[in-house]
Amino acid sequence: DQSLREQAYQAIEKYEGVVRQDPYRQCFHLSPPVGLLNDPNGWIQWKGIYHLYFQWMPFHTGHGAKFWGHYSSRDLVNWTLEPIALTPSEWYDKNGCYSGSAITDQGKLKVFYTGNVKDENGNRETYQCSAESDNGVDFVKNGVEIYLPKGYTAHFRDPKVWKHEDHWYMVVGAQSADHYGCVVLFESADTKEWVFRGNLSHSTREEFGYLGYMWECPDFFSLDGEEVLIFSPQGVEADGIDYNNLYQTGYVIGELDYRQAEYKHGRFVELDRGFEFYAPQTTCDDRGRRLLVGWLGGPDHNEKSQPTHDYHWIHSMTIPRELRLEKGKLIQKPVEELSELRVKQWYDEQIVKSGVYEIERVSEVHIEGESLEGFELTLFSYMQLIYDQDTELLTLKRPDFAGGNLESRSCRLPQGLKQLQLFIDRSSVEIFINGGEEVFTSRMFADPEEQRLELKTSNSTSMNVQAWSLREDA
Ligand code: FRU
Repeated sequence: DQSLREQAYQAIEKYEGVVRQDPYRQCFHLSPPVGLLNDPNGWIQWKGIYHLYFQWMPFHTGHGAKFWGHYSSRDLVNWTLEPIALTPSEWYDKNGCYSGSAITDQGKLKVFYTGNVKDENGNRETYQCSAESDNGVDFVKNGVEIYLPKGYTAHFRDPKVWKHEDHWYMVVGAQSADHYGCVVLFESADTKEWVFRGNLSHSTREEFGYLGYMWECPDFFSLDGEEVLIFSPQGVEADGIDYNNLYQTGYVIGELDYRQAEYKHGRFVELDRGFEFYAPQTTCDDRGRRLLVGWLGGPDHNEKSQPTHDYHWIHSMTIPRELRLEKGKLIQKPVEELSELRVKQWYDEQIVKSGVYEIERVSEVHIEGESLEGFELTLFSYMQLIYDQDTELLTLKRPDFAGGNLESRSCRLPQGLKQLQLFIDRSSVEIFINGGEEVFTSRMFADPEEQRLELKTSNSTSMNVQAWSLREDA
Protein backbone atom coordinates (compact mmCIF):
# COMPACT_ATOMS: atom_id res chain seq x y z
CA ASP A 1 0.00 0.00 0.00
CA GLN A 2 2.66 2.49 1.10
CA SER A 3 4.87 2.01 -1.93
CA LEU A 4 1.97 2.29 -4.43
CA ARG A 5 0.84 5.53 -2.76
CA GLU A 6 4.41 6.82 -2.82
CA GLN A 7 4.64 6.10 -6.53
CA ALA A 8 1.43 8.05 -7.14
CA TYR A 9 2.73 11.07 -5.19
CA GLN A 10 6.01 10.82 -7.10
CA ALA A 11 4.09 10.91 -10.38
CA ILE A 12 2.49 14.20 -9.28
CA GLU A 13 5.85 15.64 -8.27
CA LYS A 14 7.46 14.58 -11.51
CA TYR A 15 4.86 16.01 -13.87
CA GLU A 16 3.01 18.83 -12.11
CA GLY A 17 5.27 21.40 -13.77
CA VAL A 18 4.49 19.98 -17.22
CA VAL A 19 0.76 19.83 -16.45
CA ARG A 20 0.80 23.51 -15.45
CA GLN A 21 2.32 24.55 -18.78
CA ASP A 22 -0.55 23.14 -20.82
CA PRO A 23 -2.49 25.98 -22.50
CA TYR A 24 -5.53 23.68 -22.27
CA ARG A 25 -5.18 23.14 -18.51
CA GLN A 26 -8.57 23.87 -16.95
CA CYS A 27 -9.05 26.72 -14.48
CA PHE A 28 -12.31 26.09 -12.65
CA HIS A 29 -12.96 22.48 -13.68
CA LEU A 30 -11.51 19.82 -11.40
CA SER A 31 -8.94 17.81 -13.32
CA PRO A 32 -6.42 15.16 -12.26
CA PRO A 33 -3.17 16.50 -10.77
CA VAL A 34 -1.54 14.18 -13.32
CA GLY A 35 -2.76 11.14 -15.28
CA LEU A 36 -6.37 10.22 -15.99
CA LEU A 37 -9.52 11.15 -14.09
CA ASN A 38 -12.90 9.56 -14.71
CA ASP A 39 -16.05 9.12 -12.60
CA PRO A 40 -16.93 11.29 -9.61
CA ASN A 41 -17.10 9.07 -6.48
CA GLY A 42 -18.24 9.46 -2.88
CA TRP A 43 -19.77 12.87 -3.59
CA ILE A 44 -21.01 14.19 -0.25
CA GLN A 45 -21.12 17.19 2.06
CA TRP A 46 -20.05 16.34 5.61
CA LYS A 47 -19.51 18.72 8.53
CA GLY A 48 -19.70 21.69 6.17
CA ILE A 49 -17.16 20.32 3.68
CA TYR A 50 -17.92 19.03 0.21
CA HIS A 51 -15.89 15.93 -0.64
CA LEU A 52 -15.48 14.86 -4.21
CA TYR A 53 -13.46 11.69 -4.67
CA PHE A 54 -12.64 10.57 -8.19
CA GLN A 55 -11.48 7.63 -10.26
CA TRP A 56 -7.80 8.27 -10.80
CA MET A 57 -4.95 6.65 -12.75
CA PRO A 58 -1.82 8.55 -11.68
CA PHE A 59 0.70 6.75 -13.88
CA HIS A 60 -0.49 7.44 -17.41
CA THR A 61 -3.37 8.94 -19.38
CA GLY A 62 -5.17 5.62 -19.89
CA HIS A 63 -7.32 3.39 -17.70
CA GLY A 64 -6.07 0.69 -15.29
CA ALA A 65 -5.93 -0.05 -11.55
CA LYS A 66 -7.75 3.04 -10.27
CA PHE A 67 -7.11 4.95 -7.06
CA TRP A 68 -9.66 7.20 -5.38
CA GLY A 69 -8.24 10.72 -5.57
CA HIS A 70 -9.86 13.39 -3.44
CA TYR A 71 -10.76 17.09 -3.71
CA SER A 72 -12.53 19.06 -0.96
CA SER A 73 -14.22 22.44 -0.76
CA ARG A 74 -16.24 24.58 1.64
CA ASP A 75 -17.96 26.60 -1.07
CA LEU A 76 -18.00 24.60 -4.35
CA VAL A 77 -15.64 27.24 -5.82
CA ASN A 78 -12.27 26.85 -4.10
CA TRP A 79 -11.00 23.26 -4.06
CA THR A 80 -8.08 21.56 -2.34
CA LEU A 81 -6.36 18.39 -3.47
CA GLU A 82 -6.36 16.02 -0.49
CA PRO A 83 -4.27 12.90 0.17
CA ILE A 84 -5.18 9.73 -1.74
CA ALA A 85 -8.32 8.14 -0.28
CA LEU A 86 -8.09 4.58 -1.62
CA THR A 87 -5.19 2.66 -3.14
CA PRO A 88 -5.70 -0.57 -5.16
CA SER A 89 -3.56 -2.63 -2.81
CA GLU A 90 -5.59 -5.61 -1.53
CA TRP A 91 -6.43 -8.99 -3.06
CA TYR A 92 -10.06 -7.83 -3.51
CA ASP A 93 -9.29 -4.48 -5.22
CA LYS A 94 -5.84 -4.98 -6.73
CA ASN A 95 -6.96 -4.07 -10.26
CA GLY A 96 -8.84 -0.99 -9.21
CA CYS A 97 -10.81 0.67 -6.44
CA TYR A 98 -13.64 1.27 -8.85
CA SER A 99 -16.55 3.70 -8.54
CA GLY A 100 -18.79 4.06 -5.52
CA SER A 101 -20.46 6.42 -3.10
CA ALA A 102 -20.35 7.82 0.45
CA ILE A 103 -22.73 8.01 3.41
CA THR A 104 -22.34 9.24 6.96
CA ASP A 105 -23.33 6.91 9.78
CA GLN A 106 -22.57 7.00 13.50
CA GLY A 107 -20.16 9.88 13.21
CA LYS A 108 -18.12 8.34 10.41
CA LEU A 109 -17.86 8.71 6.70
CA LYS A 110 -18.33 5.35 5.05
CA VAL A 111 -17.60 4.72 1.39
CA PHE A 112 -18.75 1.81 -0.74
CA TYR A 113 -16.80 0.93 -3.86
CA THR A 114 -16.16 -1.93 -6.26
CA GLY A 115 -13.04 -4.00 -5.86
CA ASN A 116 -12.00 -4.92 -9.38
CA VAL A 117 -9.86 -8.03 -9.80
CA LYS A 118 -8.48 -9.58 -12.97
CA ASP A 119 -6.49 -12.81 -13.24
CA GLU A 120 -3.58 -13.54 -15.65
CA ASN A 121 -6.07 -14.43 -18.40
CA GLY A 122 -8.05 -11.23 -18.01
CA ASN A 123 -10.98 -12.93 -16.21
CA ARG A 124 -12.83 -10.46 -14.06
CA GLU A 125 -13.96 -10.71 -10.45
CA THR A 126 -15.98 -8.09 -8.62
CA TYR A 127 -16.41 -7.36 -4.91
CA GLN A 128 -18.51 -4.64 -3.31
CA CYS A 129 -16.30 -3.27 -0.55
CA SER A 130 -16.38 -0.55 2.07
CA ALA A 131 -13.96 1.71 3.93
CA GLU A 132 -14.42 4.14 6.81
CA SER A 133 -12.99 7.44 7.89
CA ASP A 134 -13.15 9.71 10.95
CA ASN A 135 -12.05 12.80 9.06
CA GLY A 136 -13.00 12.25 5.42
CA VAL A 137 -9.33 12.04 4.46
CA ASP A 138 -7.78 8.88 5.92
CA PHE A 139 -9.62 5.63 5.26
CA VAL A 140 -9.48 2.17 6.81
CA LYS A 141 -10.73 -0.57 4.53
CA ASN A 142 -13.32 -3.04 5.86
CA GLY A 143 -12.89 -5.49 3.00
CA VAL A 144 -15.64 -7.22 1.04
CA GLU A 145 -19.28 -6.63 2.00
CA ILE A 146 -21.09 -8.20 -0.96
CA TYR A 147 -20.12 -11.07 -3.26
CA LEU A 148 -21.49 -11.46 -6.76
CA PRO A 149 -25.06 -12.85 -6.60
CA LYS A 150 -26.20 -15.58 -8.99
CA GLY A 151 -27.68 -14.52 -12.30
CA TYR A 152 -25.15 -11.79 -13.16
CA THR A 153 -21.80 -11.58 -14.92
CA ALA A 154 -18.77 -10.00 -13.22
CA HIS A 155 -19.79 -6.67 -14.80
CA PHE A 156 -21.37 -5.77 -11.49
CA ARG A 157 -20.19 -2.48 -9.96
CA ASP A 158 -20.55 1.13 -8.79
CA PRO A 159 -22.61 0.86 -5.53
CA LYS A 160 -24.63 3.96 -4.62
CA VAL A 161 -26.07 3.92 -1.09
CA TRP A 162 -28.81 6.02 0.54
CA LYS A 163 -31.07 5.96 3.58
CA HIS A 164 -34.85 5.74 3.43
CA GLU A 165 -36.76 5.82 6.70
CA ASP A 166 -34.64 3.60 8.96
CA HIS A 167 -33.11 1.33 6.35
CA TRP A 168 -30.22 1.59 3.94
CA TYR A 169 -30.46 0.83 0.24
CA MET A 170 -27.87 0.26 -2.45
CA VAL A 171 -28.13 0.23 -6.22
CA VAL A 172 -25.44 -1.52 -8.26
CA GLY A 173 -24.88 -1.32 -12.01
CA ALA A 174 -24.97 -4.77 -13.58
CA GLN A 175 -25.18 -7.15 -16.50
CA SER A 176 -27.51 -10.13 -16.28
CA ALA A 177 -26.19 -13.61 -17.12
CA ASP A 178 -27.99 -13.31 -20.48
CA HIS A 179 -26.20 -10.01 -21.14
CA TYR A 180 -28.77 -7.34 -20.45
CA GLY A 181 -28.01 -4.12 -18.60
CA CYS A 182 -29.72 -3.74 -15.24
CA VAL A 183 -29.69 -2.05 -11.86
CA VAL A 184 -29.78 -4.27 -8.78
CA LEU A 185 -31.18 -3.30 -5.37
CA PHE A 186 -29.84 -4.33 -1.93
CA GLU A 187 -31.19 -3.47 1.51
CA SER A 188 -29.56 -3.29 4.93
CA ALA A 189 -30.54 -2.41 8.50
CA ASP A 190 -26.97 -1.58 9.56
CA THR A 191 -24.87 -0.89 6.38
CA LYS A 192 -23.04 -4.19 6.97
CA GLU A 193 -25.42 -7.08 6.26
CA TRP A 194 -26.94 -6.62 2.81
CA VAL A 195 -29.98 -8.43 1.46
CA PHE A 196 -30.40 -8.90 -2.29
CA ARG A 197 -33.77 -7.49 -3.46
CA GLY A 198 -33.59 -8.16 -7.21
CA ASN A 199 -33.59 -5.87 -10.23
CA LEU A 200 -34.84 -2.33 -9.90
CA SER A 201 -34.93 -1.98 -13.66
CA HIS A 202 -33.45 -3.70 -16.71
CA SER A 203 -32.82 -3.07 -20.35
CA THR A 204 -35.61 -5.24 -21.77
CA ARG A 205 -38.47 -3.61 -19.87
CA GLU A 206 -41.27 -2.48 -22.13
CA GLU A 207 -40.53 1.20 -21.40
CA PHE A 208 -37.26 0.71 -23.32
CA GLY A 209 -37.60 -2.11 -25.83
CA TYR A 210 -33.89 -2.71 -25.45
CA LEU A 211 -31.45 -0.49 -23.64
CA GLY A 212 -28.02 -2.05 -23.84
CA TYR A 213 -25.89 -4.86 -22.41
CA MET A 214 -24.47 -3.17 -19.31
CA TRP A 215 -25.58 -0.30 -17.07
CA GLU A 216 -22.93 1.62 -15.17
CA CYS A 217 -22.97 4.09 -12.29
CA PRO A 218 -26.60 4.06 -11.09
CA ASP A 219 -27.87 6.75 -8.74
CA PHE A 220 -31.28 6.80 -7.08
CA PHE A 221 -32.91 9.69 -5.19
CA SER A 222 -36.21 11.41 -4.60
CA LEU A 223 -36.69 14.91 -5.96
CA ASP A 224 -39.72 17.18 -6.00
CA GLY A 225 -42.06 14.32 -5.10
CA GLU A 226 -40.80 11.72 -7.58
CA GLU A 227 -38.09 9.06 -7.57
CA VAL A 228 -35.33 9.36 -10.11
CA LEU A 229 -32.92 6.70 -11.33
CA ILE A 230 -29.89 7.95 -13.26
CA PHE A 231 -27.60 5.44 -14.99
CA SER A 232 -25.18 5.07 -17.89
CA PRO A 233 -26.13 2.27 -20.29
CA GLN A 234 -23.65 0.71 -22.73
CA GLY A 235 -24.67 -0.83 -26.02
CA VAL A 236 -27.49 1.47 -27.09
CA GLU A 237 -27.50 2.20 -30.81
CA ALA A 238 -27.75 5.73 -32.15
CA ASP A 239 -31.31 6.62 -33.12
CA GLY A 240 -31.66 9.87 -35.07
CA ILE A 241 -30.50 12.69 -32.81
CA ASP A 242 -30.54 10.41 -29.74
CA TYR A 243 -27.79 8.22 -28.27
CA ASN A 244 -25.07 9.64 -30.51
CA ASN A 245 -22.23 9.26 -28.02
CA LEU A 246 -20.55 5.88 -27.69
CA TYR A 247 -22.18 5.41 -24.28
CA GLN A 248 -25.08 7.43 -22.87
CA THR A 249 -26.20 8.82 -19.56
CA GLY A 250 -29.83 9.41 -18.75
CA TYR A 251 -32.64 8.95 -16.29
CA VAL A 252 -36.10 7.58 -15.66
CA ILE A 253 -38.70 9.02 -13.30
CA GLY A 254 -41.12 6.93 -11.29
CA GLU A 255 -42.18 5.54 -7.98
CA LEU A 256 -40.44 2.92 -5.84
CA ASP A 257 -42.42 0.60 -3.62
CA TYR A 258 -39.70 -0.11 -1.04
CA ARG A 259 -41.63 -3.03 0.48
CA GLN A 260 -42.08 -4.92 -2.76
CA ALA A 261 -38.85 -3.58 -4.27
CA GLU A 262 -40.85 -2.62 -7.32
CA TYR A 263 -40.02 0.47 -9.30
CA LYS A 264 -42.56 1.77 -11.80
CA HIS A 265 -41.01 4.25 -14.15
CA GLY A 266 -41.31 5.99 -17.49
CA ARG A 267 -39.05 6.25 -20.51
CA PHE A 268 -35.31 6.88 -20.62
CA VAL A 269 -34.24 10.47 -21.27
CA GLU A 270 -30.67 11.61 -21.96
CA LEU A 271 -29.34 14.01 -19.37
CA ASP A 272 -26.93 15.93 -21.54
CA ARG A 273 -26.77 16.52 -25.28
CA GLY A 274 -23.04 17.25 -25.62
CA PHE A 275 -20.08 15.13 -26.71
CA GLU A 276 -18.52 14.46 -23.30
CA PHE A 277 -20.68 13.63 -20.32
CA TYR A 278 -20.81 10.36 -18.38
CA ALA A 279 -21.27 8.59 -15.04
CA PRO A 280 -22.61 11.52 -12.98
CA GLN A 281 -23.28 11.27 -9.26
CA THR A 282 -25.58 13.31 -7.02
CA THR A 283 -25.77 14.18 -3.35
CA CYS A 284 -28.04 16.27 -1.16
CA ASP A 285 -26.34 19.13 0.70
CA ASP A 286 -27.26 20.89 3.96
CA ARG A 287 -29.37 23.41 2.07
CA GLY A 288 -31.49 20.55 0.73
CA ARG A 289 -30.18 20.92 -2.82
CA ARG A 290 -29.72 17.88 -5.05
CA LEU A 291 -26.28 18.50 -6.57
CA LEU A 292 -24.87 16.67 -9.58
CA VAL A 293 -21.30 16.37 -10.83
CA GLY A 294 -20.47 14.38 -13.95
CA TRP A 295 -17.37 13.18 -15.73
CA LEU A 296 -16.62 15.67 -18.50
CA GLY A 297 -15.30 12.82 -20.62
CA GLY A 298 -16.28 9.37 -21.82
CA PRO A 299 -15.06 5.79 -21.79
CA ASP A 300 -13.19 4.10 -24.63
CA HIS A 301 -11.99 7.34 -26.14
CA ASN A 302 -8.63 7.20 -27.79
CA GLU A 303 -6.88 9.07 -24.99
CA LYS A 304 -3.87 9.89 -27.17
CA SER A 305 -6.05 11.87 -29.58
CA GLN A 306 -6.59 14.58 -26.96
CA PRO A 307 -3.82 17.20 -26.87
CA THR A 308 -3.59 17.26 -23.05
CA HIS A 309 -2.15 13.73 -23.26
CA ASP A 310 1.22 15.32 -24.21
CA TYR A 311 1.13 17.18 -20.89
CA HIS A 312 0.47 14.01 -18.85
CA TRP A 313 -3.15 14.58 -17.89
CA ILE A 314 -6.62 13.95 -19.36
CA HIS A 315 -10.30 14.66 -18.58
CA SER A 316 -12.16 16.89 -16.10
CA MET A 317 -15.30 17.02 -13.97
CA THR A 318 -18.30 19.15 -14.92
CA ILE A 319 -19.19 22.15 -12.80
CA PRO A 320 -21.59 21.30 -9.94
CA ARG A 321 -25.23 21.61 -11.03
CA GLU A 322 -28.41 21.84 -9.01
CA LEU A 323 -31.16 19.47 -10.12
CA ARG A 324 -34.89 20.15 -10.06
CA LEU A 325 -37.81 18.30 -11.53
CA GLU A 326 -40.15 20.46 -13.57
CA LYS A 327 -43.00 19.17 -15.70
CA GLY A 328 -41.62 15.64 -15.65
CA LYS A 329 -38.16 16.72 -16.75
CA LEU A 330 -34.83 17.03 -14.94
CA ILE A 331 -33.61 20.61 -15.02
CA GLN A 332 -29.91 21.33 -14.44
CA LYS A 333 -28.67 24.72 -13.26
CA PRO A 334 -25.09 25.73 -12.48
CA VAL A 335 -24.91 26.19 -8.69
CA GLU A 336 -25.29 29.84 -7.74
CA GLU A 337 -21.95 29.85 -5.89
CA LEU A 338 -20.22 29.92 -9.28
CA SER A 339 -20.97 33.63 -9.59
CA GLU A 340 -18.04 33.97 -7.11
CA LEU A 341 -15.80 33.10 -10.03
CA ARG A 342 -16.66 36.32 -11.83
CA VAL A 343 -13.81 38.81 -12.03
CA LYS A 344 -15.17 41.51 -14.29
CA GLN A 345 -18.19 42.08 -16.48
CA TRP A 346 -17.13 42.97 -20.03
CA TYR A 347 -20.48 43.25 -21.79
CA ASP A 348 -24.10 43.98 -21.04
CA GLU A 349 -25.64 44.97 -24.34
CA GLN A 350 -28.84 44.84 -26.33
CA ILE A 351 -28.10 43.81 -29.89
CA VAL A 352 -30.14 43.11 -32.99
CA LYS A 353 -29.26 40.49 -35.60
CA SER A 354 -25.51 40.14 -35.03
CA GLY A 355 -22.49 41.00 -32.96
CA VAL A 356 -18.85 40.03 -32.60
CA TYR A 357 -17.22 40.08 -29.18
CA GLU A 358 -13.78 39.59 -27.88
CA ILE A 359 -14.06 37.52 -24.72
CA GLU A 360 -11.54 36.17 -22.25
CA ARG A 361 -10.74 32.48 -22.66
CA VAL A 362 -12.15 31.71 -19.22
CA SER A 363 -15.58 33.26 -19.09
CA GLU A 364 -19.31 33.09 -18.55
CA VAL A 365 -21.71 34.33 -21.21
CA HIS A 366 -25.47 34.86 -21.02
CA ILE A 367 -27.65 35.44 -24.07
CA GLU A 368 -31.36 36.11 -23.81
CA GLY A 369 -34.18 37.06 -26.16
CA GLU A 370 -37.93 36.54 -26.68
CA SER A 371 -37.39 34.03 -29.44
CA LEU A 372 -33.95 33.53 -30.95
CA GLU A 373 -34.75 32.45 -34.49
CA GLY A 374 -32.00 31.44 -36.88
CA PHE A 375 -29.62 31.74 -33.96
CA GLU A 376 -25.94 31.04 -34.67
CA LEU A 377 -23.12 31.19 -32.18
CA THR A 378 -19.51 30.61 -33.19
CA LEU A 379 -17.04 30.18 -30.36
CA PHE A 380 -13.30 30.73 -30.93
CA SER A 381 -13.79 29.88 -34.66
CA TYR A 382 -14.07 26.28 -33.48
CA MET A 383 -17.50 25.38 -32.21
CA GLN A 384 -20.86 26.33 -33.63
CA LEU A 385 -24.29 26.24 -32.07
CA ILE A 386 -27.19 26.66 -34.51
CA TYR A 387 -30.93 26.80 -33.91
CA ASP A 388 -33.34 26.06 -36.72
CA GLN A 389 -36.90 26.97 -35.69
CA ASP A 390 -38.40 25.01 -38.60
CA THR A 391 -37.00 21.67 -37.44
CA GLU A 392 -36.89 22.87 -33.80
CA LEU A 393 -33.35 21.49 -33.65
CA LEU A 394 -30.50 23.04 -31.72
CA THR A 395 -27.20 21.64 -33.01
CA LEU A 396 -23.65 21.83 -31.68
CA LYS A 397 -20.81 21.23 -34.13
CA ARG A 398 -17.08 20.84 -33.62
CA PRO A 399 -14.11 19.18 -35.32
CA ASP A 400 -13.53 15.65 -34.00
CA PHE A 401 -10.34 14.89 -32.04
CA ALA A 402 -9.02 12.41 -34.57
CA GLY A 403 -8.93 14.14 -37.91
CA GLY A 404 -10.83 17.39 -37.60
CA ASN A 405 -13.96 16.22 -39.45
CA LEU A 406 -17.04 18.05 -38.21
CA GLU A 407 -19.25 16.10 -35.83
CA SER A 408 -22.54 17.24 -34.34
CA ARG A 409 -25.03 16.66 -31.54
CA SER A 410 -28.61 17.97 -31.46
CA CYS A 411 -31.65 18.29 -29.27
CA ARG A 412 -35.20 19.36 -29.97
CA LEU A 413 -36.55 22.62 -28.53
CA PRO A 414 -40.29 22.67 -29.25
CA GLN A 415 -40.70 25.81 -27.10
CA GLY A 416 -38.02 27.66 -29.04
CA LEU A 417 -34.69 29.08 -27.96
CA LYS A 418 -34.87 31.88 -25.41
CA GLN A 419 -31.88 31.70 -23.19
CA LEU A 420 -28.31 30.40 -23.12
CA GLN A 421 -25.75 30.35 -20.36
CA LEU A 422 -22.21 29.30 -21.27
CA PHE A 423 -19.41 28.32 -18.89
CA ILE A 424 -16.20 28.44 -20.85
CA ASP A 425 -12.91 27.09 -19.52
CA ARG A 426 -9.59 26.70 -21.35
CA SER A 427 -10.68 23.45 -22.99
CA SER A 428 -14.35 22.89 -22.28
CA VAL A 429 -17.74 24.47 -22.60
CA GLU A 430 -21.04 23.76 -20.84
CA ILE A 431 -24.07 25.33 -22.46
CA PHE A 432 -27.27 25.54 -20.40
CA ILE A 433 -30.34 26.11 -22.57
CA ASN A 434 -33.60 27.78 -21.48
CA GLY A 435 -32.76 27.74 -17.79
CA GLY A 436 -31.27 24.24 -17.77
CA GLU A 437 -33.94 22.40 -19.75
CA GLU A 438 -31.14 21.01 -21.95
CA VAL A 439 -27.36 21.04 -21.53
CA PHE A 440 -24.51 20.52 -23.97
CA THR A 441 -21.24 19.54 -22.25
CA SER A 442 -18.11 19.26 -24.37
CA ARG A 443 -14.35 19.51 -24.49
CA MET A 444 -13.08 22.20 -26.80
CA PHE A 445 -9.54 22.33 -28.19
CA ALA A 446 -9.68 25.67 -29.99
CA ASP A 447 -6.55 27.69 -30.79
CA PRO A 448 -5.56 29.05 -27.35
CA GLU A 449 -5.06 32.54 -28.81
CA GLU A 450 -8.60 32.77 -30.21
CA GLN A 451 -11.01 35.08 -28.36
CA ARG A 452 -13.86 35.68 -30.77
CA LEU A 453 -17.49 35.05 -29.96
CA GLU A 454 -19.79 35.65 -32.95
CA LEU A 455 -23.56 35.87 -32.66
CA LYS A 456 -26.30 36.05 -35.28
CA THR A 457 -30.07 35.79 -35.47
CA SER A 458 -32.43 36.01 -38.41
CA ASN A 459 -35.19 38.01 -36.76
CA SER A 460 -35.05 41.54 -35.49
CA THR A 461 -36.08 41.01 -31.88
CA SER A 462 -33.19 42.14 -29.79
CA MET A 463 -31.06 39.92 -27.63
CA ASN A 464 -29.26 40.80 -24.46
CA VAL A 465 -25.63 39.71 -24.20
CA GLN A 466 -23.69 39.63 -20.97
CA ALA A 467 -20.15 38.33 -20.50
CA TRP A 468 -17.86 38.04 -17.52
CA SER A 469 -14.26 36.97 -17.25
CA LEU A 470 -13.82 34.27 -14.62
CA ARG A 471 -11.07 33.63 -12.09
CA GLU A 472 -8.18 31.66 -13.51
CA ASP A 473 -6.79 30.52 -10.15
CA ALA A 474 -9.71 28.73 -8.45
C1 FRU B 1 -17.55 4.19 -15.63
C2 FRU B 1 -16.68 3.06 -15.09
C3 FRU B 1 -17.34 2.40 -13.90
C4 FRU B 1 -16.16 1.81 -13.17
C5 FRU B 1 -15.11 2.87 -13.38
C6 FRU B 1 -13.71 2.36 -13.50
O1 FRU B 1 -16.83 5.14 -16.31
O2 FRU B 1 -16.40 2.13 -16.10
O3 FRU B 1 -18.32 1.45 -14.23
O4 FRU B 1 -16.42 1.59 -11.82
O5 FRU B 1 -15.46 3.56 -14.56
O6 FRU B 1 -12.79 3.41 -13.53
